[in-house]
Amino acid sequence: MKIAVLPGDGIGPEIVAQAVKVMSALRGDGLKIEMEYAHLGGAGYDAAGDPFPAATEQLTKESDAVLLGAVGGYQYDNLPRPMRPEQGLLRIRKGLGLFANLRPAMVYPELVNASSLKPELVSGLDIMILRELTGDIYFGQPRGIRTLESGERQGFDTMHYSESEIRRVAHVGFQSAMKRGKKLCSVDKANVLDTSMFWREIVTAVGQEYPQVELSHMYVDNAAMQLVRAPKQFDVILTGNIFGDILSDEASMLTGSIGMLPSASLDANNKGLYEPCHGSAPDIAGKDIANPLATILSVAMMMRYTFARVDVAQRIEAAVRKTLQQGLRTGDIYEAGTQKVGCAAMGDAVVKSL
Ligand code: IPM
Ligand code: MG
Repeated sequence: MKIAVLPGDGIGPEIVAQAVKVMSALRGDGLKIEMEYAHLGGAGYDAAGDPFPAATEQLTKESDAVLLGAVGGYQYDNLPRPMRPEQGLLRIRKGLGLFANLRPAMVYPELVNASSLKPELVSGLDIMILRELTGDIYFGQPRGIRTLESGERQGFDTMHYSESEIRRVAHVGFQSAMKRGKKLCSVDKANVLDTSMFWREIVTAVGQEYPQVELSHMYVDNAAMQLVRAPKQFDVILTGNIFGDILSDEASMLTGSIGMLPSASLDANNKGLYEPCHGSAPDIAGKDIANPLATILSVAMMMRYTFARVDVAQRIEAAVRKTLQQGLRTGDIYEAGTQKVGCAAMGDAVVKSL
């Protein structure tokens, strides 16, 4: 298992260090894990003048999987856009062809009170958001800021999806629904956008190949509402890049903390990039208070999806559960009666549970 480790910026290095502890423990138990580090985001800009340095690109291409912390920081906010940390992330996703982004939102029984919704609405919640990750308005051309004939300036972007882009992610969605609750809800804005009308047509066509999966369609504004009204109605949510960006942040809060949520971004051969759903949180960087569990759970997803080692994935997930059952909490999931610990102590506790 050749794994490229990209700590990135902000809290990235701290949380990745905890996931590396877990991988080192697994290696001690006989898994053939090889790890090599490289820079991405602001760290790439600082080290090599590029948020996705050539050396990082090389390493990630040669690796079976990539573990990423997070990118971004205030000090990079005024750089020209191609140099910004986020561009490193978008380029690595596009460059590796990571079109299928799996963002599970599940509520651990131990954390049901940490959700911003009433316990009865979220207890037992287990949703999979599948976000298309390499198309849509994120990558559409042309885009820019132009001056119209009238002399007024205008910002513009282009939304488009080609049939092959929709088909391949729809297949991942239906296959993932087959392994779960056999329900797929495709989210779009087909009442307004032509791109969405086409999306709906293609998803429906692909659905004919999966008669056992119950397919429904929902407009994105309604989906945003349903997620906080009755989130348990969903099993797999399939959606495009920009809607998935927004809905996955919303869904994360149902679970109590975005600090708990892992993600996988896969190519057509299950090579993947694994990262927590949260960002680099520069305001708490270096304070040893960040929650490393999303990053550790990202390693579990890596074992499941890239290496097909469901046993190892379950072992990591069980270790996280056990640590929560012991009452250990980082600040983001703390409640009275539990024990507040820092990032490194949480990592150590998971290794011990493992
Ligand atoms: C995410 C993030 C990124 C995105 C940003 C940092 C470019 O919000 O992974 O959801 O918009 O995809
Ligand atoms: Mg986002």
